Amino acid sequence: MSDAPRRFGVLGTGHWAATCHGAALAAHPDVELVGFAGRDPARAAEVAGRVGGRGFASPEELIDAVDAVTIALPPHVQAPLAARAARAGRHVLVDKPLALDVAAADDVVAAVREGGVASVLYATYLFQPDITDWLGRMRALAAEHGPWEGAIARWAGTIDVPGNPYGASAWRRERGGLWDTGPHALSILLELLPPVERVSAGRGARDAVNVALEHRGGAGSALSLTLTAPAGAGGSFASVWGPGGRHDLPRFHGTPQEGFARAVDRLRASAAGGGPDPLDVTHGREVVAVLAAVDEHLARPVAERTTAVVRG
Ligand SMILES: NC(=O)c1ccc[n+]([C@@H]2O[C@H](COP(=O)([O-])OP(=O)(O)OC[C@H]3O[C@@H](n4cnc5c(N)ncnc54)[C@H](OP(=O)(O)O)[C@@H]3O)[C@@H](O)[C@H]2O)c1
Repeated sequence: MSDAPRRFGVLGTGHWAATCHGAALAAHPDVELVGFAGRDPARAAEVAGRVGGRGFASPEELIDAVDAVTIALPPHVQAPLAARAARAGRHVLVDKPLALDVAAADDVVAAVREGGVASVLYATYLFQPDITDWLGRMRALAAEHGPWEGAIARWAGTIDVPGNPYGASAWRRERGGLWDTGPHALSILLELLPPVERVSAGRGARDAVNVALEHRGGAGSALSLTLTAPAGAGGSFASVWGPGGRHDLPRFHGTPQEGFARAVDRLRASAAGGGPDPLDVTHGREVVAVLAAVDEHLARPVAERTTAVVRG
């Protein structure tokens, strides 16, 4: 893959930037971890000292020095930086959620097109063989028996439990499980059910949100999302059903770093002429549009909460 990007830099200096993106890039045999950049050059240098590469004074300086960036920053910070990197001709490996509003997500999609670069969104579950094998089996069952009719997914983090690495994450506190765990749940559902056309939602304890999704063609699904489940009440599960029976999502046994290495391989293959990746920023934009429609629905006075339409 002679055209595949080799020199990778990480935008972000937090927990995920160091322990997942950075660690996976440092261990990857086909790429070079050039370094880190964030809003604090001293912190970038400190993380680089621990993980690899060097610290850069600014995101712009790092973008200038690499073929591709991976981004592990709050989503509202990620989106404009991804757009800037793409317009500068750098391939982009972004994390979930792509952005916190549809306009910002649209701009990343436009920038990737304008820059003529490859993009991949790291939807963790979809880079794990236990999950992708199961999805393949579910697709085969649907082909044999008929499309899936419904699904339910509960995704719950426990960021208030002492020692959780995301307890101080400001954007998570502000936007809750809908925007942090919602992308994981949707990444599974959108693999098996058609696009979402309408949503309705209600609130639960603290940040908890319960969502009903109406999919094109008539299937329906439900999500229960939170980041602040009590100790012992976190975790995720999902089931899908239809003429092919009812089936539970399995657990995955690989590490996030192994999955991230696969995402790097997919970005490199796409950049080397493999065509757009199915999990590119367009997929990220689709997820953002659903989450934004849920927010729109929840913002209405309770008496006016009819379904909200997903913007295509
Ligand atoms: N795929 C997955 O399974 C998975 C798992 C975890 C996280 N993630 C994603 O990775 C991304 C980063 O997650 P995280 O947990 O590291 O987030 P975070 O803790 O909220 O923020 C990460 C870092 O971003 C910097 N930052 C915060 N606010 C900023 C601002 N306004 N401007 C510039 N920099 C700012 C901070 O670094 P400094 O204080 O050093 O400046 C912070 O440590 C998120 O999109 C998250 O969804 C994905």
